Amino acid sequence: MSILLTGGAGYIGSTVASILKEEGEEVVILDNLKRSKKEHLPTGIKFYEGDIDNISLLEKIYAEENIDAVMHFAAFIEVGESVLEPYKYYENNFSKTIKFFNYFIDKGVKKIIFSSTAAVYGEPQYIPIDEDHIKNPTNPYGMSKLFVEKFLESVDRSSDVRHVALRYFNASGAYGNFGENHNPETHIIPIILEVALGLRDKIFINGDDYNTKDGTCVRDYIHVYDIAIAHLLAYRYLSKSKESLKVNLGSGEGYSILDIIESCRKITGAEIPAEIRERREGDPSTLIASSKIAEDVLGWRREYKTVDAIIESAWKFHKAKFENNK
Ligand SMILES: NC(=O)c1ccc[n+]([C@@H]2O[C@H](COP(=O)([O-])OP(=O)(O)OC[C@H]3O[C@@H](n4cnc5c(N)ncnc54)[C@H](O)[C@@H]3O)[C@@H](O)[C@H]2O)c1
Repeated sequence: MSILLTGGAGYIGSTVASILKEEGEEVVILDNLKRSKKEHLPTGIKFYEGDIDNISLLEKIYAEENIDAVMHFAAFIEVGESVLEPYKYYENNFSKTIKFFNYFIDKGVKKIIFSSTAAVYGEPQYIPIDEDHIKNPTNPYGMSKLFVEKFLESVDRSSDVRHVALRYFNASGAYGNFGENHNPETHIIPIILEVALGLRDKIFINGDDYNTKDGTCVRDYIHVYDIAIAHLLAYRYLSKSKESLKVNLGSGEGYSILDIIESCRKITGAEIPAEIRERREGDPSTLIASSKIAEDVLGWRREYKTVDAIIESAWKFHKAKFENNK
């Protein structure tokens, strides 16, 4: 029995696929490579190139593989782009996703693990954010993910198909050869490390007038390895449980952008010039998770407990990539 993992050439999907394989699970990958490259795929895992809404390709996968579960990572992920081009996000992240899920639900697949996000919550009403917190996304990216969660809840009510929606906070860090390689890169840690490597002149901070300790946005950073282990636990949970779950994945600790820059300066020894610019539309001020459900129900324990440990792993990855590209 195999897990069909979409988006497996991307940052998180490739890491998760690789770790699932190490843990003895059978995995096959589907990715259209629109936001990634073939060389980012983990080795030794069967790969189907194409779109999640390509029904003839899904027919082929279904005929060739014995699919037990789907883990759905494939999506567009840029908050700023989603504000500028909302249709693209509702189409890829919602319309195509429900078409894809529907295909496998019709074929009898009962287990769905969905990559959701902290962006479903919007501006927090209290901290830490638990799973019952009101969902009021401040951007189309978060809304497109919330729509999928609503679809999965409807499927849950009308059938015996169960899901775990994992709401990641800021996925970060690297696991060996698997690290953040987005193009264009909009995530804070890889951008700062590119400044440290001399690939960019400075880091731009989007606003310093938020209601936080130093005015910059506060986020909860979670290592991609810990996210991968949560997927394994979610898959095992669905193999024995009859209830769907919504699960936050975070550390419970918040770091401001200035904290992250300071940590990167300490780890890299580089100066890392920074400049404040306007706020970016759609950014909540603070996102910090309560991950109690992940711990209590899935038995999840984080391996990477400090932001320094996360940044050190990312730094190793980015330095190696830089050396290889020379
Ligand atoms: N990176 C984060 O901090 C973060 C936080 C919360 C949630 N997530 C979610 O995790 C998932 C993975 O994020 P990531 O950072 O690895 O992104 P990524 O861009 O690195 O990977 C996404 C992959 O999906 C593929 N893809 C996109 N649309 C597709 C389609 N229609 N058909 C087939 N393949 C398609 C892309 O080619 C890419 O390889 C996403 O669903 C994202 O919303 C990410």
